[in-house]
Amino acid sequence: MKLIVVPGQPLRGQVELPGDKSLSHRSALFAALAQGASRLENFLVAGVTRAMLGCLRELGVQWELDGSSLTITGQGMDGLRAPRATLDCGNSGTTLRILAGALAAAGIPAVLDGSPGLRKRPMARIVEPLQAMGVEIESAPGTRAPLNLKGRAPRQRLRALRYDLPVASAQVQTTLLLAGLAADGPTTLTLPGPCRDHTERLLASMGVEIEARPATDRRPITLTLQPPTRPLQPLDFTLPGDFSSAAFLIVAALVTPGSDVTLRGVGLNPTRTGLLDVLERMGASIRVSDTGMRQGEPVGDLNVRYSPLRGVRIDGPLVVRMIDEFPAFAVAAAHASGATTVREAEELRVKESDRVAALVRGLSQLGVAIREATDGFDLDGGEAPEGGTARSNGDHRLAMTFAVAGLAASNPVTVQGAELIAESFPGFVEALQTLGAEVHVASEPSRP
Ligand code: S3P
Repeated sequence: MKLIVVPGQPLRGQVELPGDKSLSHRSALFAALAQGASRLENFLVAGVTRAMLGCLRELGVQWELDGSSLTITGQGMDGLRAPRATLDCGNSGTTLRILAGALAAAGIPAVLDGSPGLRKRPMARIVEPLQAMGVEIESAPGTRAPLNLKGRAPRQRLRALRYDLPVASAQVQTTLLLAGLAADGPTTLTLPGPCRDHTERLLASMGVEIEARPATDRRPITLTLQPPTRPLQPLDFTLPGDFSSAAFLIVAALVTPGSDVTLRGVGLNPTRTGLLDVLERMGASIRVSDTGMRQGEPVGDLNVRYSPLRGVRIDGPLVVRMIDEFPAFAVAAAHASGATTVREAEELRVKESDRVAALVRGLSQLGVAIREATDGFDLDGGEAPEGGTARSNGDHRLAMTFAVAGLAASNPVTVQGAELIAESFPGFVEALQTLGAEVHVASEPSRP
């Protein structure tokens, strides 16, 4: 499928976003490990979360989806059954990595695999520490998927882990905390910087003793999880809208003259909202209102108006707080006057695509003056993108980025491989159309 975005229409109106991807993955999996029925409202129904739900079904977990309301009946930590088939995680790195942690805790044998794109992503970051806990795992050469977890004798605990994560990765941290639920002592992790803390908030709300405290300057966070002595309590949770999906609409409104958009019920966990801080520094007009808390997660409404922007430099801890937002951010930077520099963002190279290379290639094709650096990019902004054709390159966030680039380009933009948008934000095109954008959907010979 391809999108044709015709520039020139201001975006106006209100949108509610589908549920947060990270929270959808976590709440479904944690609910499966709890004892009793959990109810999750505004669950993200998309490619990546369907992968998680498919795996849970294969593991014998009962769930029912009615629109975006998900009911999951957990049978406790020992309630997962060894799957008969390979667990297909599709394109979802989060599914594969955090499921590996839960399966390690459950001690059942299973094979985790996924798309050709997922098979390229690094898994040593979870395999090595899980092995240190006593989990027997085989992997493909280069420590890639498929991962073959061997299982272990019933009631045999894992070894308590003390581990310094080499990268500030919330997926890795979640994997190890989940495995730690079945350890013979506390799991202690130190992180090189803050990353999204949904797991800590959610597990704490389910009765797990988990503590985060500041450590040294070099390892600013230490997390300690005590293996629970009681079953995890089920959840009753209305998920906040996904900030990472909101990011595309925020940037769309900022760069399209005449725009005034309100996004309702967006997740505003400060470990996720680095983009808001950066956009503010760039001169963006964004108003936050109606703030509240849901299951320990901050939410609020965002009002975004078209704003002239100026370039910035991004590095350090801010990078992790906006790790999924760099593609959308780059479109804002293209419209910003002056230079933008991104550094210390080498993790972008191991996302759904090599996001440095693919972003630079795609935006260059649309006429943006952007250049690759080893750990980021440089961009000279201030001119509207020329327009043209760019390809998603197997990456849902790049497809949305190129579409947003078309809204205020000098000529229309065609986005090839746009079906991938359904991996994380199925209503993206409709949301843009509701706000007044001219976006046409057309078919193309399938090739992501
Ligand atoms: C995620 C963590 C991030 C992010 C991904 C979702 C999560 O990955 O890029 O989209 O839900 O924990 P890393 O943990 O690899 O940084």
